[in-house]
Amino acid sequence: MTRIILIGYMGAGKTTIGRQLAKALGVQFYDLDWYIELRYHRRVAEIFQERGEEGFRDLEQRMLHEVAEFEDVVISCGGGTPCFYDNMDYMNRQGETVYLKAPADVLAAHLKMGKTERPLIKGKTPEELQAYITESLAGREPFYSKAKHIFDVSLLDNFDKISLTVRLLRKELGL
Ligand code: S3P
Repeated sequence: MTRIILIGYMGAGKTTIGRQLAKALGVQFYDLDWYIELRYHRRVAEIFQERGEEGFRDLEQRMLHEVAEFEDVVISCGGGTPCFYDNMDYMNRQGETVYLKAPADVLAAHLKMGKTERPLIKGKTPEELQAYITESLAGREPFYSKAKHIFDVSLLDNFDKISLTVRLLRKELGL
């Protein structure tokens, strides 16, 4: 049975790598944010607006306990998932956790290119974004570092590198 759980900061490439890894392994891919949106018929940003971050974290934990029971899956979590409740210990019990690690400047560059609707960073100037990432990454690192595997994705910026990353990740996981 394969159950791989990808964690890491926003912009680390969890969804992109997870989708490709699942395809390469011939298993289903689940993105926790998408799963939450499907089950609650709400965008993550709307859930933050309606229930606040605390309400979102509660739903997130409940939905994590659903997807992390599925078998033969690759799951990508939200950036904050490992840092609330006992989620990180739970994930370590459920599967092969992999921390996709990148420094703050790389994450900031990815996030500037990507979607702008993430509620925690919406409306920030480039300077504010960099400062926010540096500070919150430091706070989250102790949780992320509990993953069974730590995998550097700092060189990830085009499709060739995504396939290479997936190949190296499979090697790391022995799959
Ligand atoms: C969050 C990351 C987001 C999403 C929510 C909160 C976080 O997921 O769960 O906006 O706390 O880092 P991604 O990491 O997939 O962007």
